[in-house]
Amino acid sequence: MAGRLNRKVAIVTGAGSGIGRAAATLFAAEGAKVMCADLNESGVSETVSRIGASAIAARVDVTVPAEVERMVASTVKAFGKLDVMYANAGIGEAGNAIDLTFEQWNRMIAINLTSVWLSSKYALPEMLKAGGGSIINQSSLAGLVGIGGIAHYSAAKAGVIGLTRQVAVEYGPKKVRCNAICPGTIFTPLVETVWSKGGGVAGGGADMEETKKRSALRYPMGRLGELADCANLALFLASDESSWITGYAVPLDGGMSAA
Ligand SMILES: NC(=O)c1ccc[n+]([C@@H]2O[C@H](COP(=O)([O-])OP(=O)(O)OC[C@H]3O[C@@H](n4cnc5c(N)ncnc54)[C@H](O)[C@@H]3O)[C@@H](O)[C@H]2O)c1
Repeated sequence: MAGRLNRKVAIVTGAGSGIGRAAATLFAAEGAKVMCADLNESGVSETVSRIGASAIAARVDVTVPAEVERMVASTVKAFGKLDVMYANAGIGEAGNAIDLTFEQWNRMIAINLTSVWLSSKYALPEMLKAGGGSIINQSSLAGLVGIGGIAHYSAAKAGVIGLTRQVAVEYGPKKVRCNAICPGTIFTPLVETVWSKGGGVAGGGADMEETKKRSALRYPMGRLGELADCANLALFLASDESSWITGYAVPLDGGMSAA
């Protein structure tokens, strides 16, 4: 089935790598015009060159209000409106509540939580103008359940779920939906960075294939997530097929949070 996002305009943050690149590519394949935003200019240019004419790229630091505002404004200028905001950009880092520094805490909250609020702050007025929209916020399994070794990450991702529910309730009457995606492990550069420093639930380590196997065994379905698992869920939440789903934090974790 193609064309599930026909006539829709979407922004995907963190589109220069991993999950964001996969989602931007799928959104475009399903008919959307896509603004691909990322701090990593070469990554996001690569995404857009793979997609072709239905995508544009912008170098955006999602923690800077003026840059997020400009990202939304240039999307509307290029494509005429905004229907879908996928606030996906983020970082991973290991650290427990004792060892984290104040700077690490604040940086994580800025990149993984404040940025998500900024995306809503500037997307909402355009969606209200357009008569509705879908905001998808990237949370994590770590926002739903306690996972060792990632105190600041867990707090930021749980905060994303709180914001998601609040926005859903406040703007539901105006036909803006807001949902969160809560993935377990999907092997991306983010995960590779955390694992290579010894972090992660399965203990990390230099041998990525070995760590993947160990990590997969922790999931009831016996495998890690794929980029397509997350992109497909984001597509569903972006499309009108999910038109009565809002305020929901969707586990995407092969059964881990059910265990
Ligand atoms: N991969 C997983 O296992 C997993 C699990 C749960 C949640 N997530 C979340 O999914 C999202 C995407 O992660 P990924 O695994 O694809 O990682 P990734 O590292 O492949 O991609 C993240 C992208 O975000 C961009 N980014 C980081 N800081 C930014 C900033 N300040 N402004 C703009 N862009 C910025 C990076 O440049 C990068 O391109 C993150 O929010 C992450 O926390 C990932």
